[in-house]
Amino acid sequence: ERALAASQVLAGERVLITAGPTHEPIDPVRFIGNRSSGKMGIALARAARDMGAEVTLVLGPCDAPAPHGVRVERVETAHEMLDAALASFEQATMAICAAAVADYTPAHPADHKLKKGIEPLSSIELVPTEDILRALSERKGDRVVVGFAAETGDPVAYAQRKLDRKGCDAIVANDVSRSDSGFGSDTDKAWWVTADGVEELPVLAKDELARKILQRMAG
Ligand code: CTP
Ligand code: CA
Repeated sequence: ERALAASQVLAGERVLITAGPTHEPIDPVRFIGNRSSGKMGIALARAARDMGAEVTLVLGPCDAPAPHGVRVERVETAHEMLDAALASFEQATMAICAAAVADYTPAHPADHKLKKGIEPLSSIELVPTEDILRALSERKGDRVVVGFAAETGDPVAYAQRKLDRKGCDAIVANDVSRSDSGFGSDTDKAWWVTADGVEELPVLAKDELARKILQRMAG
């Protein structure tokens, strides 16, 4: 019973997690997307649930099954993800942005399927999407907000810049140039980057990395 109590370090917490890719419509049948599997965010949702938290998972379009015992809100676009995240953040005590949000969205999505013989498409005008992590960080007060940075080159240096730019409490820097880390991998090589310093983590399974992140957020 003691061990169970000790493991419930997130009892009473309400955790918001964004996960998966977003799809930005070109027309009703076509979109711009990315290869995010949603696995890291789903691992975080499962771990937070097991540590006693109430979890809301705002999940972009992906095949990975959403965990039981978690409130799941399915969204398609970056804008829908922002709206769902802002709404759920009002009740949340902490947030983790693990989604691979599209950085750009078509400026003028067509309301009908584009026909190649009639409206040949040679370029698509794009506009930037809203930054969800930054929007949550601006409203965070004394709540804990954490983001991810999937990088090549020098992940820690990029993560430190992201920490400043976004205004969140920590960034999990992930080295996606390695075969044992990042997209499609079941393990990750990561660093926990805060204003206080950098903690290097060993190569970990995603559910172990999820636990480490949540333990640090619990303080
Ligand atoms: N993020 C977000 N909303 C966006 C873009 C990013 O919430 N529109 C979040 C991601 O979920 C992640 C963090 O911001 O937690 C960093 O995402 P990343 O794509 O690495 O950073 P960007 O600021 O988009 O910069 P770049 O892609 O140029 O590296
Ligand atoms: Ca980006």
